[in-house]
Amino acid sequence: MTAATHTPRVFSGIKPSGGLTLGNYLGAIKRFVDMQGQDYETIYCVVDLHAITVWQDPAELKHATREVAAGFIASGIDPSKSILFNQASVPQHAELGWIFNCVARVGWMNRMTQFKDKAGKNAEKVSLGLYAYPSLMAADILLYHATHVPVGEDQKQHVELTRDIASKFNKDFKAEDFFPMCEPIIEGPATRVMNLRDGSKKMSKSGESDMERINMTDNAETIAKKFKKAKTDPEPLPESLDGLSERPEARNLVNIYAALSETSSEAVIAEFGGEGWGKFKPALADLAVEKLAPISTEMKRLMDDPAEIDRLLLKGSDRAKEIAEPILQKTYDIVGMIGPAA
Ligand code: AMP
Ligand code: TRP
Repeated sequence: MTAATHTPRVFSGIKPSGGLTLGNYLGAIKRFVDMQGQDYETIYCVVDLHAITVWQDPAELKHATREVAAGFIASGIDPSKSILFNQASVPQHAELGWIFNCVARVGWMNRMTQFKDKAGKNAEKVSLGLYAYPSLMAADILLYHATHVPVGEDQKQHVELTRDIASKFNKDFKAEDFFPMCEPIIEGPATRVMNLRDGSKKMSKSGESDMERINMTDNAETIAKKFKKAKTDPEPLPESLDGLSERPEARNLVNIYAALSETSSEAVIAEFGGEGWGKFKPALADLAVEKLAPISTEMKRLMDDPAEIDRLLLKGSDRAKEIAEPILQKTYDIVGMIGPAA
């Protein structure tokens, strides 16, 4: 089978390491919701095994796992349409991850820019899991023979590595196209949402000041305040997109507006070109509140009943296992392990 003949199947994941941001929403979750309505089988995972590659307080990890699940559901992921579960409930991820640790090469891992950024000068002291992380991510995707992987820009290299792992496995074991060549889907105006105080840095869950990011749990007042205080420059908005090339903060706010209003950055410039921040920022704040406040309210409501979230995740993990287990058993057989598929 080629990737084209594998069932069109979407897989993506989000780490429960701290709260969800506007970057997660626009770069990932909102796009997961769009793909759910199309001709794909959609599988979305709260990747708790990835979160522990850096220290997580156990009680906070449980809370964050439920909160990411609540964020998915509140944004429109329907657990009866998509398979929604947490990674640790499906042990096949870790099992296939081990096999891929034996396929991936150390040299490949050494080239991963996210590892270099996260490890920094401290590379000797970080966990071995942080180093092996991309091979577990490959296992997440390939355990379902997923063909499409919607992610933000920062994950492109990891999806490319997944293709390298699939290709080496297929070649080494003469397994033809057993693992498909998955496509990274990195589309839309907000594949890299930047920090509101420094347009050269990505908006992330961790970071010194809460003013740098919009959290999906922020209330209307906080969302509006953060946009109004976002760093900009003194110039009005340009008349064409080219005029944003040297203005990272301005470009970021235009991209966010475009993604929230489901249009293009060109269309936003066509509407607001020549206007000052006194007009654009309140319009952006209103739009963000209109789109995000209902989600944050719904997340809070869902979080009031954690047992219900756990129940939904468990149900999702049963469905995930039904797809994963035969693929894992076939993989073991291909590798030469004695087991049910041998
Ligand atoms: P993480 O929170 O690192 O697990 O990321 C989960 C998903 O959100 C991945 O697909 C990321 O690429 C995406 N993502 C995280 N931060 C951003 C951002 N600032 N802009 C766009 N996408 C992002
Ligand atoms: N590595 C991704 C991130 O940090 C999260 C992730 C784990 C993922 N497994 C995945 C994304 C599989 C897509 C597919 O954002």
